[in-house]
Parts: sequence; C-alpha cells; structure tokens
Amino acid sequence: MATEPIPQIDLAPLHTALRADIDASIRAVIDAGSFVLGETLARFEQACADYLGVPHAIGVASGTDALLIALRAAGIGQGDEVITSAFSFFGSVEAILHAGATPVFADIEAGSMTLDAEDVARKITRRTRAIMPVHMFGQIGEIDSLLELAEAHDLVVIEDAAQAFGARFNGRLAGSFGHAGCFSFHPAKPLGALGDGGMLVTVDEALAAEARRLRDHGSRARYDHVSVGYNSRLDALQAAVLEVKLRHLEAHLAERERLARRYRELLSGTALVLPETLPERRHVFAQFTVRSERRDNVCEAMRARGIGCAVHYPQPLYRQAAIAERYGDVKLEVTEAVCESCLSLPLFQGLTEEQQQRVADVLMEAGA
Ligand SMILES: Cc1ncc(COP(=O)(O)O)c(C=O)c1O
Repeated sequence: MATEPIPQIDLAPLHTALRADIDASIRAVIDAGSFVLGETLARFEQACADYLGVPHAIGVASGTDALLIALRAAGIGQGDEVITSAFSFFGSVEAILHAGATPVFADIEAGSMTLDAEDVARKITRRTRAIMPVHMFGQIGEIDSLLELAEAHDLVVIEDAAQAFGARFNGRLAGSFGHAGCFSFHPAKPLGALGDGGMLVTVDEALAAEARRLRDHGSRARYDHVSVGYNSRLDALQAAVLEVKLRHLEAHLAERERLARRYRELLSGTALVLPETLPERRHVFAQFTVRSERRDNVCEAMRARGIGCAVHYPQPLYRQAAIAERYGDVKLEVTEAVCESCLSLPLFQGLTEEQQQRVADVLMEAGA
C-alpha cells in the first residue's frame, strides 16, 4: 500500500525467513546448558575463521571491545598515537582512548568515505604506533596504500571492519589485511546478532592468545589472572544465532548488492551523489549513504512522507562533546563536508521494488 511507512531499517523480514533455524539453534544452547564460552562459541569462531580465511577468530561482547582488545593485545597504550578516521561511530575512538592511546584524525576521501592515505602519511609522527582504517558502510578503502605506509613506518594496522563482514578487496576479506580485524554484530550490521556482539580476527598467534586472555578477565586458566582484562565474551546464545545467519550471509549480501544497484538506476537522474564502489571491491552496503547539498530538507521531506532517513554521521568525532576540547584546532575539510551532506536511505533484506520506487519518487519530488 502506497501510504505504509518505509522504515530506514527493518529486521523483521530477515528474521522471519530464518526464524525456524534461529529458534532451533537457541533451543540447542538452552538444552546444552552452556552459555559462556564453550562449544557453541568455539564452533562459531571456527566458522568465521574459515569464512574469512584467517587462523584465529575470537568472539567478544561488542565491536568496540574487539577494537579495544585488539589495540591492547597489539601492545598499544599510553603515549602511542593511533591514526584513524573522524567519520565513524564514536566506538572507534572510545576504543583508542580506553586503551590509553591518543587518537589522531586524518581526512577521508569523499567518494568512498574511507581514510585518505595521503593525509594519513602527513599525520605520522615519531609517536605513531598504529593506523586504524574504518571500512565505512561496508567497503574496504585504500588498504594497500595504508599497509605500505605501515610497513615503511613499522606501524600496526587494526581494521575497524565493524560494518564490513563479508566485504572484499581483490577477493580477500575485510579483517584479514591488518594485524587484527574487528567486527561488530550489532543487530543493524550486515551480520547482526539479537543484541550486542563482536569479533576480533588475526593471523598473529601471540596477539590471538593475548586477546583470548583479555576478553576473559586477563586469565590464562581459571582463577589465574595474568593481566587486567575484561568481561567481554560473545554469549553462546548470540553465537548460536549468528551461526545460522552466517550460513545465509552470501545470499543476504547478494540481496544488499542488488538493492544498491537498483537505487543506482532509480537515482541516476538526481543531483544526489551516490556511494562510490572502488575497483576490485565487494561493498556490503551496511548502509546506502548518498550526499545532498540540501540534506536537511531532503530528510525532512522523506520523513514527512513516512520514509525513514538516517544521518551517519552528523558530525566528525573530534566535535563530539566528550572529546571536542582536545581537538579545538582540528578541521578536516572532506570529513566536515561529508558530515553536512550525508543521508542513508532505507536498505534491508525484504525491501521491495515498489518501496524503492517510492523512496526514489519522494527524493525526486523533494528536488534531491
Ligand atoms: C565503524 C564502527 N566502529 C565501531 C563500532 C562499534 O561497534 P559496537 O556497537 O558493536 O560496539 C561500530 C558500530 O556501530 C561502527 O559502525
């Protein structure tokens, strides 16, 4: 029906399709009576490691914790600078700060909304220890240039792949490029749990061992604590749900790609700047984020017609009240321009052609 609202995200169609399998999987965990660590989590970790092509996958409580634990396990802390993007969710920067390190912001490229490697190079100082690229909206940016820079300056690369489970570059999966890759299983992510969850993956055995200890109160065995860690294990119930969703992930991502292609066709005649897909990439479209000089008017028009519209992200991280005082003199031109113009359209499994047409019609009516 033409007047039904269209939410920006609706998880119901995906969950309805997988409901019987999810219910059975949850029931199996309850029947087994093992809810923390244990076999279900180990099985899901192995499934992720196999899918991503890495030897170690460690389930944690959130994407933010995955980043924090990865940074700490890589030995990054007090006095170290970590170069990252200010066009991200606050969790990226919280992780750096909780590790005791100092975030340094580099600008992004407007097309991909990911780190500009040339600006990263300009931000390297003798205190720089790591680069944390953010695979924004599910696309890997200029990772090869960043890896070269890291190699040349002996830096650690921690991928913030929170939005990018399943994203590829030259056939290789997000999370497998750096010293560690970190994912979020927040429900709205391409691979989402029924609550919070996260994962850290790495090829480095020592980093993996330290991360396993840190997520479990810094313990190497029961009641044997060798560092001050966290209570940050991925719940067995969430692992059980995610195990089902991982089996269907390729089909789910193919649908997201199809929806994105259709938006491109429908919106090609508008003044909107459509998201750029870089060569050799598989973009997983965690969001379909466009840009408009008239963003606020366009969002208002969409909402007035019952169509969801989200702004990821309205301001650079260095303008967030929690940290703004330390970054008074920072101004990143592209980041600020993107924050002022970006808006994310409805995109979720089950979004129909008719709904996409309505989104496009409203955008055109609004003069987007
Ligand atoms: C780019 C980015 N980094 C980090 C996070 C933090 O993940 P979580 O919400 O699972 O802690 C998110 C999730 O919103 C994110 O989008």
